[in-house]
Amino acid sequence: MTLALVGLPGSGKSTVGRHMARRLGLPFLDSDHVIEERLGCSIREYFEREGEPAFRDLEESVIAELSQAGNIVVATGGGAVLRPANRQSLRNNAHVIYLKSSPEEVFRRVRHDNNRPLLQVKDPMERLRGLFEERDPLYRETAHFVIETGRPSVATLVNMVIMQLELAGVIAPRP
Ligand code: S3P
Repeated sequence: MTLALVGLPGSGKSTVGRHMARRLGLPFLDSDHVIEERLGCSIREYFEREGEPAFRDLEESVIAELSQAGNIVVATGGGAVLRPANRQSLRNNAHVIYLKSSPEEVFRRVRHDNNRPLLQVKDPMERLRGLFEERDPLYRETAHFVIETGRPSVATLVNMVIMQLELAGVIAPRP
């Protein structure tokens, strides 16, 4: 089965996902990278040129594919849970882990990053608070596991996720 990470932009989905995949001996895919490969340009560029709905259409087909691919670890884009179809594909076909970060925590991590189109606004903190309020219920609805990211190291976070998956019988405990 696919193991999928959901959460706000900057919650650590790609970093944690890459490490998890290495530990489990599975391939890692980032849905945003798969989309960019298909577009042949950056998501930021595409957002500006074609608008958000066009991006979300492509995202929906990529999420459907990756949810069903199996035996991979996938980091999804922060907005992947916005469409009910994506929430369903993920929930029904994958084991979904929500990396739950507060808006303040995310802000600390992404404030110098100008590749996230939704955060290129005058008050990114305010935007993050809004995104959290809107999306936290959707992430929770989609996920089978919730991990609070807080301040632990990546290694600790990865251990926490792997332990949850082992306890739930999703993956076999390692010696
Ligand atoms: C988005 C998050 C981005 C990317 C796109 C839209 C969002 O992914 O999919 O810019 O709506 O939150 P990350 O969560 O990897 O930044």
